[in-house]
Amino acid sequence: MARVALVTGGIRGIGAAIARALQSAGCRVAVTFSGNAEAAQAFQAETGIPPFQWDVGDFAACIGGVRQVEAVIGPIDILVNSAGIGRDSALHKMTREQWDAVISTNLNGMFNMCRAVIEGMRSRKFGRIINISSINGQRGQFRPDELCHRKGG
Ligand SMILES: NC(=O)c1ccc[n+]([C@@H]2O[C@H](COP(=O)([O-])OP(=O)(O)OC[C@H]3O[C@@H](n4cnc5c(N)ncnc54)[C@H](OP(=O)(O)O)[C@@H]3O)[C@@H](O)[C@H]2O)c1
Repeated sequence: MARVALVTGGIRGIGAAIARALQSAGCRVAVTFSGNAEAAQAFQAETGIPPFQWDVGDFAACIGGVRQVEAVIGPIDILVNSAGIGRDSALHKMTREQWDAVISTNLNGMFNMCRAVIEGMRSRKFGRIINISSINGQRGQFRPDELCHRKGG
């Protein structure tokens, strides 16, 4: 039987490529997006994959959204957390709003979505969760040689 996959941030970029690949591999796929309704419509018209809109940073929206998705394509076997944003900046320039936006989407979003699917996966004794991260989360964006040399030195 076809596996059911949900890809967050799946109407564009890396998420869209993953959604297409899962569809080609025989999965029933749904995707989420946050606000780009035009791109969502275009993606659905091209692929037939249904898009659902909610903010992954909103816990209650994730619980309700997953319920909605499951009512349409069935219980989720595979979750790909690809929704993410970048607001990269040096610490002395970063605003509290930028920090909060990244933590809400990239970190809380991952927890919220995993939490929304995990009980179903455990009770069905099958589940796969793939979290898309970034090398910038481990290494930072400044190159070490930029950190070790003074300007003009
Ligand atoms: N691109 C890179 O070079 C790169 C490198 C390293 C890691 N990554 C990571 O890979 C993932 C995908 O990157 P990408 O470049 O493919 O991204 P992208 O093209 O900018 O697409 C991001 C997707 O996430 C959705 N999204 C953003 N905030 C959301 C929220 N709060 N709730 C729900 N959906 C939200 C967007 O929705 P809308 O379409 O409605 O805006 C969009 O569909 C991200 O987690 C990113 O950090 C990317």
